[in-house]
Amino acid sequence: RTVAVVLAGGTGTRLGLGIPKQLLKIAGKPIIEHTLAVFEAAPEIDEIIVLMATGHVADAQQIVDKAGFRKVSKVIEGGDTRNATTRIALDAVGDGDVNILFHDAVRPLVSARIVRECVNALWTYSAVDVAIPSADTIIQVDEDECITDIPVRSRLRRGQTPQAFRSGTIREAYRRAEGDPDFAATDDCGVVLRYLPGTPIKVIDGSDENIKVTHPVDVHLADKLFQLAAAQAPRLSHRSYTEELAGRTIVIFGGS
Ligand code: CTP
Repeated sequence: RTVAVVLAGGTGTRLGLGIPKQLLKIAGKPIIEHTLAVFEAAPEIDEIIVLMATGHVADAQQIVDKAGFRKVSKVIEGGDTRNATTRIALDAVGDGDVNILFHDAVRPLVSARIVRECVNALWTYSAVDVAIPSADTIIQVDEDECITDIPVRSRLRRGQTPQAFRSGTIREAYRRAEGDPDFAATDDCGVVLRYLPGTPIKVIDGSDENIKVTHPVDVHLADKLFQLAAAQAPRLSHRSYTEELAGRTIVIFGGS
């Protein structure tokens, strides 16, 4: 069984809209609806659990009901931090050996190809990340904004989501993290890396389009990317492109 956990427990302070950014409409639909549509359409996914920001569970449930997403089994409240939200999700998934994909609700342009490759990689690996090369040089700075290191760019990647795990691995990593008063992480592969050292974490190619809507400019970018996908969809002939865009095509044309 493979469960997609859609993390929507944040409030989007950097976008500063007054509502959680996952409820913002892009290309005619709330961001979270685009995201859910990709997982609903993915044959590899059996079940979807949504973790929503406090005070907005009913909004998310309404979106799910209206769109008729049949794979969504639960819409529940998330936690104060992203990792707290992950913990709540792990409880919600229940016992037993399952594959779990954690995905940011605010990455609505995730593709069917990425979802498929994550699930396939779980046959071989117990932890999987999605990342892209960095076009920019990444620099490390200290508290005074002075450079302390410039790592070799060819070995750097920018992490995206989904992050996929066999349930035993991610549960054990979080169980160990519980005992650490200094625990802090912004993603789930980081928890495995730190608390289950030695576990190979496979990296799957993400895509430039799989952006995380974070700042105002990302709203424009996402809108444009949906427009581009809509314009391309009818002219697609190459099979791999059709597959790549399958999730999105459904998104764009409203599931019809
Ligand atoms: N997230 C979550 N629970 C939290 C915080 C974040 O499920 N307590 C989710 C967000 O809803 C989002 C994803 O994690 O889908 C990535 O986080 P980010 O972009 O940082 O979202 P926000 O926390 O909403 O944004 P900001 O940091 O600007 O407040």
